[in-house]
Amino acid sequence: MGFTIAIDGPAASGKGTLARKIAERYGFHHLDTGLTYRATAKALLDAGLPLDEETLAAEQADRVDLGALDRSVLAAHEIGEAASKVAVMPAVRRALVEAQRRFAIREPGVVLDGRDIGTVVCPGAELKLYVTASPGVRAGRRFEEIGKSGGNLSYDDVLDDIRRRDARDMGRVDSPLRPADDAHLLDTSEMSIEAAFRAAQILIDEALARKKPS
Ligand code: CDP
Repeated sequence: MGFTIAIDGPAASGKGTLARKIAERYGFHHLDTGLTYRATAKALLDAGLPLDEETLAAEQADRVDLGALDRSVLAAHEIGEAASKVAVMPAVRRALVEAQRRFAIREPGVVLDGRDIGTVVCPGAELKLYVTASPGVRAGRRFEEIGKSGGNLSYDDVLDDIRRRDARDMGRVDSPLRPADDAHLLDTSEMSIEAAFRAAQILIDEALARKKPS
């Protein structure tokens, strides 16, 4: 088995950017599990199907191809909102978690980021990080991203969305967003991505040394 890094946290906490940087630096495979929920939601939207029919949604989840997840298409703000609706359904989660676990056995190591990686998908991960930031800071970051890609939501709309999504993700019965008991907390409210990466690097190097004593 390779080395597994589990990164969880709420929307726009910086976990995705951090996960990509870690994977690049350590030569690990990276999976943004949010994209699997987004791909499921987009398939339903494209087919004109409802977002709350569990059997239909699970059929789409079964068809998600981890090798064909296109971030540029799936990043749209409305798809994130739709993804958090399909993500409450246990049959959807079962299908996607199974695919994510198959990914997680890759050598020499993997970085998975999402909401339930440390608690459900990879509870035995060698290192768990829980990346967070205040709702105001997260809304500011998302607002900037949306502006760059030509969207025109107001900051207040984005903040409302972030709060609604947090409530849905933390309040659901199946695999709610929460830090695993053994996760290291990283609050990036006042931290640059570089500083967050340096903090993570120290923890990763310690965990690697524990796994393979030199
Ligand atoms: O990028 P952002 O944080 O906005 O969202 P994302 O990570 O792409 O995830 C979109 C939605 O998928 C989240 O709001 C969750 O409801 C759901 N999700 C989940 O339930 N479990 C995961 N492991 C990843 C995402």
